[in-house]
Amino acid sequence: MAKNLTRRGFVHGGLGLGLGSMGLASLPIGTRLRAQTVELPLVITSHANATGREAMRQSWEILAGGGSALDAVERGANVIEVDPEDFSVGMAGLPNEHGVVQLDASIMDGRTYSAGSVASLEKIVTPSSVARLVMERTDHVMLVGPGALDFAKSFGFEEVELLTPEAREIWLRWREHHSDQDDWGPPDHLRGRAEGLDRDAARDAGPLGLDLTGSIEHHYGTTNVLAVDASGDVAGITTTSGLSWKVNGRVGDSPIIGAGLYVDNSVGAAGATGRGEDVIKSCASHYIVMRMREGRSPQEACEDAIEMIVGRYRAVGLDFVPEEKFVAINKAGEYGCAWMGIDGVPSMTVRTPASLDVFEGTSLYGPA
Ligand code: GLY
Repeated sequence: MAKNLTRRGFVHGGLGLGLGSMGLASLPIGTRLRAQTVELPLVITSHANATGREAMRQSWEILAGGGSALDAVERGANVIEVDPEDFSVGMAGLPNEHGVVQLDASIMDGRTYSAGSVASLEKIVTPSSVARLVMERTDHVMLVGPGALDFAKSFGFEEVELLTPEAREIWLRWREHHSDQDDWGPPDHLRGRAEGLDRDAARDAGPLGLDLTGSIEHHYGTTNVLAVDASGDVAGITTTSGLSWKVNGRVGDSPIIGAGLYVDNSVGAAGATGRGEDVIKSCASHYIVMRMREGRSPQEACEDAIEMIVGRYRAVGLDFVPEEKFVAINKAGEYGCAWMGIDGVPSMTVRTPASLDVFEGTSLYGPA
C-alpha cells in the first residue's frame, strides 16, 4: 500500500494511533489550555505515532525500574532513530540537497548540569548516543561533521548507509521536480512531454509504491524526548535529520543547547521541532524553561514562546508565522505542547505511572 507522505506526517510524526486522547481535539486556534498534571516519573516524546509509543514503552521500563531520566531519554530516542520508516531522524532521515543524510542531536543531563551535541553527523544511526558521549567523555559540548564521525568511530559506532531506498526515491523526486529550469526530470517525463502532460504528472508513481504527493516540500521532522525520573532529576534529547534538501552543511536548532533543547534540573525541560532558524534566533527552549522558572506551566510557557516569536517578526514588520512545535515538562509532573503555522492539533506521547496516552495541545496560529 502506498504511504502518503504528507507534510504533517513528516514534520510531526502525527499519525493516528488509536490511543486514548487527553486533549480537546475540537479546540479552535488560539485557545489556551490549563496545565496537565501527573505523578512522577514522567516521560514524553513529541512523536505521537506507533514508534513514539514504543519509545515511551522502553523509556518507561527504565524509569519504572528506578533508572535515570538520562538513560530513559536515550533509550526512547534510539528507538525512534533506528526506525527505517521514519523519515525525520536517524535511519531513513531525509537527506540534504546532495542526497547525503546529515544528522543533528543534543542531550542535556539536569542532574549534572551538562550537555553534549553533534551536528552534520553522517553515517551514524544514533546521533543522540554520540551526543551523550561528547557530554560524558570530553570537556566539550559540540562536535560537528567529520570530527563528530571520527569521534563516534573511536567509540565503536559503525558507519551505515542512512539513505534508505525509500528516502532516496523521495529525494530523487525532489531533485526532479523542484525546478523546471534544470535538466532533471522524472523517469517518464519524456512520455509526459510527448503526451502534453506537465512535469508533475508522474509524481505519484514512485517505483517503490510510495505516494510522493507533497514530497518535494521542505520538511523539518524532529524528535524530542524529555523525562523526570523518580528522584526528580530531569533530562532531555532532541534528534533529527533536519530540514530536508538543506544546503550542504546547514545546521538547525536541534544540536544547539537552548534552541532545540534545554533542561534545568530545578525547573524542567523543553524541546522544539519545526523551522529551526526561528528556534535558533529566539533560543526558544531556553525561553520556555525560563518562563517555567517564573511560574508558568509547561503549557503556558510553550504558548508564550509562540507569542514571543510571532511578536518579534511583527515588531520588524513581517507578518510571518513559522511552523514550529514546542513540548515541555516540569518537575511537578506537568506537561504541555503547542504549535503554530500548521493546520490541525499538535500532539505528543506521554507515559506516566497511570497511563500511556497521546496528549493534544494547542494551535495558536493557523497556516498562512
Ligand atoms: N528543527 C529541525 C531543523 O530545523 O533542523
